[in-house]
Amino acid sequence: MAQPVNQDEQMSHPRKIIIDCDPGQDDAIALLLALASPEDISVLGVTVVAGNVPLHLTERNARAVCELAGTGPIPVFAGCDAPLQRKLVTAEHVHGATGLDGPPLPEPQQPLETTHAVDFIIETLRREPSGTVTLCPLGPLTNIATALRRAPDIAPRIQEIVLMGGAYFEVGNITPAAEFNIYVDPEAADIVFRCGAPLVVMPLDVTHKALTSPSRIRAFRNMGTTAGQMVAEWADFFERFDIAKYGGNGAPLHDPCVIAWLIRPDLFTGRHINVEIETRSELTLGMTVADWWGVTDRTPNALFMGHLDADGFFALLTERIARL
Ligand code: RIB
Ligand code: CA
Repeated sequence: MAQPVNQDEQMSHPRKIIIDCDPGQDDAIALLLALASPEDISVLGVTVVAGNVPLHLTERNARAVCELAGTGPIPVFAGCDAPLQRKLVTAEHVHGATGLDGPPLPEPQQPLETTHAVDFIIETLRREPSGTVTLCPLGPLTNIATALRRAPDIAPRIQEIVLMGGAYFEVGNITPAAEFNIYVDPEAADIVFRCGAPLVVMPLDVTHKALTSPSRIRAFRNMGTTAGQMVAEWADFFERFDIAKYGGNGAPLHDPCVIAWLIRPDLFTGRHINVEIETRSELTLGMTVADWWGVTDRTPNALFMGHLDADGFFALLTERIARL
């Protein structure tokens, strides 16, 4: 099993990660945060999955955002275009028809890698020293689960899986019981939550505290940079859905919480608890059943976050995006 992260070791070397995503405005901001933080994070590659919008759009969006960062070529690998067993559910109602509605983004010049995302994940984990690569899923867990099923030997080689998904006190955002990333592919989530790798989970309970506001969006717009302008306009577009649904509190920056934790884990608090996935009941399909109060003897398998320092989060995000 992978060794716990050695903080001294990490201070001297950036953490090697693979970002698995379904851009999505919040995925895009997470990508920019990671690429703007080379002293903390080394992005070995970006793998893409169908989720917010179909795969042909999420892979195009991922390539376009990596180019927008302007931090040098980042290999982007297309992965699974549908969940393991179910029909794909998408979220154009939140992210727009392109998945990145808001500002126009130039067509990417960099080509998609020819290697399948699942093969890239397996090959990277087998090549890199055991316990030195972190997986950062920001969308449905289909690619990660497919890699684990195809190559069970990689599970003990994973340093950590730090993912955005699930909910407990916040309950669901796509159904009354389930959060979107888990709901789209609950069988994949079940495989990941049972795989034995150290899990860090950013549920809606914490991402709904990472809310944009007019002043926070103004800070991006006032940078006078293309990246700052794009983040501001994505946030403007992205927040309209959540404001209409939850009332005027701004847009939750779900996926950037994953990357922010890698850089400043002190901004977050949570509990190491048991979390299991509902895969049978149609009523509660995709629910993350989190034993937050320790009422069962189920083995803890995840560091499940409950709170973040929102001002500290936005200060970090603003400082890093301003670098691009
Ligand atoms: O429920 C929020 C999650 O679903 C985020 O990752 C968002 O990008 C969508 O994928
Ligand atoms: Ca996402």
